[in-house]
Amino acid sequence: MPMDAIELLKDDHVKLLDLLDQLSKTTERAKKTRPELLEKIALELHAHTFLEEEIFYPAFKDSNGKENDKMYFEAKEEHRAVEDLIIPDLKKTDPASLQFSGRAKVLKELLEHHIEEEEEEMFVQARDTMSSEVLSELGVQMAAKKKELMKQGQYKA
Ligand SMILES: [Fe+2]
Ligand SMILES: [Fe+2]
Repeated sequence: MPMDAIELLKDDHVKLLDLLDQLSKTTERAKKTRPELLEKIALELHAHTFLEEEIFYPAFKDSNGKENDKMYFEAKEEHRAVEDLIIPDLKKTDPASLQFSGRAKVLKELLEHHIEEEEEEMFVQARDTMSSEVLSELGVQMAAKKKELMKQGQYKA
């Protein structure tokens, strides 16, 4: 059985949280490991965010009119803060600095908060307002798109 849309996104979350955990355990001595992990996180996150913004979120938003709008716009803003501000900043930060440690911590906290809201609020709501057929169909579509995005691997946040 292929994963449905929500299972697929949750599976991504597990991967992302693990990578963030690994990054948070590094110190200023990890001059090589930090940029490598950051590169992996940026790629995973970009593919994940793309799937959410292009495929899952619009379907979620449409499934319940105005009720879902608030969650939709808040989640999108959090994506923007991470992808347009924190990740690009981190890429420019010396991995041997304490500033890197601070920024990596903020990235982890923001994403943990974001993922928690998606899983505890948005996805719970989605199970209510979207049919299992739609969620399965979206899952198939998203899995194919993810494969393509990860293969391209050319995303620079
Ligand atoms: Fe998200
Ligand atoms: Fe997510």
